[in-house]
Amino acid sequence: MRHLYLIGIGTGNPEHMTVQGINALNAVDVVFIPDKGEAKTGLADVRREICARYLTRQDTPLIAYDVPVRQTADRSYTQGVDAWHADIAAVYEQMLTDNMAEDGSAALLVWGDPGLYDSTIRILQRVLARGNVAVDYSVIPGITSIQALTASHRIPLNLVGKPVEITTGRRLAASFPALVGTAVVMLDGEQAFAKIEDPDAFIYWGAYLGTDDEILLSGRLADVAPTIAATRAAARARHGWIMDIYLLRKGQDFDD
Ligand SMILES: C[S@@+](CC[C@H](N)C(=O)[O-])C[C@H]1O[C@@H](n2cnc3c(N)ncnc32)[C@H](O)[C@@H]1O
Repeated sequence: MRHLYLIGIGTGNPEHMTVQGINALNAVDVVFIPDKGEAKTGLADVRREICARYLTRQDTPLIAYDVPVRQTADRSYTQGVDAWHADIAAVYEQMLTDNMAEDGSAALLVWGDPGLYDSTIRILQRVLARGNVAVDYSVIPGITSIQALTASHRIPLNLVGKPVEITTGRRLAASFPALVGTAVVMLDGEQAFAKIEDPDAFIYWGAYLGTDDEILLSGRLADVAPTIAATRAAARARHGWIMDIYLLRKGQDFDD
């Protein structure tokens, strides 16, 4: 049966690759690289750099595939994502059928860790459910943007004995700080931190983590929120895109 390795590649620094990931990369017949839409962000370049650095057989085929664009018009968020995943599943199915022998192996390089705010696993499960192509798969964990953020800021993720919520900008206001003392916010296009009015909250923000362009800012939220918003806007304009993440904290170790 075909075997697909979903390899977590970390978040921009090729040195985030684990030995397990490198070994899997070197065990496969072909490597799939998402290209479309990622060209402008340099994300495809990181994947190519990883292949150039770590592939011991430089003749391993790298096959680029187009990622369909999510349609948002006339549909709810959930409907849009569902239809988008169906489109990607169709691309995967074709790609696996066309480029893998029935007993062949391939790698798909997944940003960060495949289990965190990434749908590669669930889209592959759709492909399996369709039943048109026989494929087994393994997941190789990767360094997440959360780990990259806390490591760069040199902080622990959690307060002693306290929970952490991982959420999106859309949902932040529903939980922080009323329900959780630590929230990690990903996929925030609306800068939801700017709407949190809490004088005691602290923020640790990072953009382009792991890359040469990494930016870090931290401080009392009320003091640094305007600086983060301005820095984010300027960086986004300069690069044409941005990937950022932040941790909001209220409270201290041993404060209860
Ligand atoms: C679709 S999610 C993918 C997360 C990824 N699977 C992981 O393990 O981190 C994309 C979000 O992750 C965060 N992210 C990923 N890479 C990042 C980086 N290098 N710097 C800052 N944030 C990053 C951003 O919040 C971005 O909106």
